[in-house]
Amino acid sequence: MKIEDDPLLGIGQVAQRSGVKASALRFYESLGLIESVRGEGSHRRYHRSALRRIAFVVFAQRIGFTLEEIAEQLRKLPTRHVPTGRDWERMSRVWKERLDQRMAELQRLSSSLDQCIGCGCLSMRSCALYNAGDRCGQNGAGARRWLGDPMED
Ligand code: FES
Repeated sequence: MKIEDDPLLGIGQVAQRSGVKASALRFYESLGLIESVRGEGSHRRYHRSALRRIAFVVFAQRIGFTLEEIAEQLRKLPTRHVPTGRDWERMSRVWKERLDQRMAELQRLSSSLDQCIGCGCLSMRSCALYNAGDRCGQNGAGARRWLGDPMED
């Protein structure tokens, strides 16, 4: 579909349908995540296809991606026509690797909240076994197990 054939919606309609406040939509627009068309009286109007971009922004943020990271991905979508399934697929190939990484991190976070994570605190009973004397700290800063270091004993 050509972009000019994509129906336009007012900011209130987009806010209502997307569940994102108008102020946040204006912020997204200032970051280049979505674009508006200025109509009569310079009111912002958005192509209906913006709803999909907004949904992507909301969910990508929800799983921890920064707005800069999201903008970088969205810049890969075409602007001269309404992004097709193929366009989204092309974009998501690059994105998928990062999603897999993020899912692995979330899995580690979820499965080890009550265990030693190799952060150097030595405050859990299991630290004496899994991070005696903070040996994990030899590998660098941070919670080494959440960063992907293997569990050793
Ligand atoms: S939980 Fe912090 S070093 Fe074990």
